[in-house]
Amino acid sequence: MTKAVVVVGTQWGDEGKGKVTDYLSQNADIVVRYQGGDNAGHSIEFDGNRYALHIIPSGIFDKKRMNVLGNGVVFNPKSFVKEIKELREKGFEITNLYISNRAHVIFDYNLVLDGLYEEELGKNKIGTTKKGIGPTYTDKVARRGIRVADFVSSDFETIYRDKLELKNKEILRLGGEAIDVEKSVKEYKELADIVRPFVIDTIYYLNSEYQKGKKILFEGAQGALLDVDFGTYPFVTSSNTTGSGVSNGSGIGPTKIGEIVGVVKAYSTRVGSGAFPTEFEDEISHYIRETAHEYGVTTKRPRRIGWLDGVILRYSCMINGLTSLSIMLLDILTGIKELKICTSYNLDGKEIFELPARSSEWERCQPNYITLPGWSEDITKCQSFDELPLNAKNYVKKISEICGVEVGIVSVGADRKSTFVLKDYFK
Ligand code: IMO
Ligand code: MG
Repeated sequence: MTKAVVVVGTQWGDEGKGKVTDYLSQNADIVVRYQGGDNAGHSIEFDGNRYALHIIPSGIFDKKRMNVLGNGVVFNPKSFVKEIKELREKGFEITNLYISNRAHVIFDYNLVLDGLYEEELGKNKIGTTKKGIGPTYTDKVARRGIRVADFVSSDFETIYRDKLELKNKEILRLGGEAIDVEKSVKEYKELADIVRPFVIDTIYYLNSEYQKGKKILFEGAQGALLDVDFGTYPFVTSSNTTGSGVSNGSGIGPTKIGEIVGVVKAYSTRVGSGAFPTEFEDEISHYIRETAHEYGVTTKRPRRIGWLDGVILRYSCMINGLTSLSIMLLDILTGIKELKICTSYNLDGKEIFELPARSSEWERCQPNYITLPGWSEDITKCQSFDELPLNAKNYVKKISEICGVEVGIVSVGADRKSTFVLKDYFK
């Protein structure tokens, strides 16, 4: 039986997971999102067009392929309807998608509360995307959430009125403006009518398709360092972004997973607050930001830029159980004379090779670097590893050596075609 393939981010998100998922999905039957919500921003380019996806999986562009939002996802019906409308305007009618009846719904009150909780934190704020992700996962774990099955049921109005009354009290307590109940009820009932046809029990669906031998690709959102358990807590998102989130978020058991592809950006970026040891700000970081357009797809915020961090990559490989790497945005480094990779930190006068647990310790970590010579040749047309200039090959080999994991994919440009694959996935 072909085992499932998983694509995960190894850093702080925005590694290029959308591009890898789109690429690998050409050989998959089903693409599944298993965690997160529309805090994600995955961009895909082909045939001269660029598409930004937030909640819809990156396998959507081919009708032969099914796409699934698993039970571990938090689902905002408003953004979903907006996204399907935008795709329709670009010529893609969304019919190849299922939504889990067990996924939790993000309502407006969770967006409002996301903003108010951030304000309450003041200078300690997380820097969230304000998409209501944290408050919705909080409701889920506190057992007071509303799931998709409830949302599309005939009981919805009663359930929602009770919930909104409580949430409005909380909003008022924090100094916010209460949500208009009648208007909101009407709006969500209309949205439920649009969402209902997409809803099924995706747990049975995915397992039955797996039994038939269908190839399933899981698309992670965010990255390992944003994982609520493994990341730079509390500056993280509220879900398990790593490989272990797949089973909880889809109902596909761990033994059915064969490959876990770690997506590595050739340098580092981070949006939102929190420690970032290899961060730097000079003309090179400025060059990287502008060349790669390192601005959030979801929030448009400028991303913070840093050198590649080997301490983080080793950790990411370990906690994800990665079986291969996908190196992204290598072309962005073209023309930079010397490239740095962090291999350890100094913390309070001591060299360390492991990530500290406490955020305050993270903040004090100073990076120790090795320096590799850069390359100046245009690599965007390279179609194999052999075609890369020597210094680019060495840079890629170094990443693989640090991780102890083989490189399966290299991306040398934004377009689908600017990619080469060194490994046979879904064999
Ligand atoms: P993709 O899938 C980068 C960050 C936010 C913030 C923290 C918590 O495109 O890689 P949240 O709204 O999730 O509660 O915010 O996580 N964050 C991301 N950063 N890429 C993402 O997704 C992100 N999703 C959330 O900036 O620091
Ligand atoms: Mg993104």
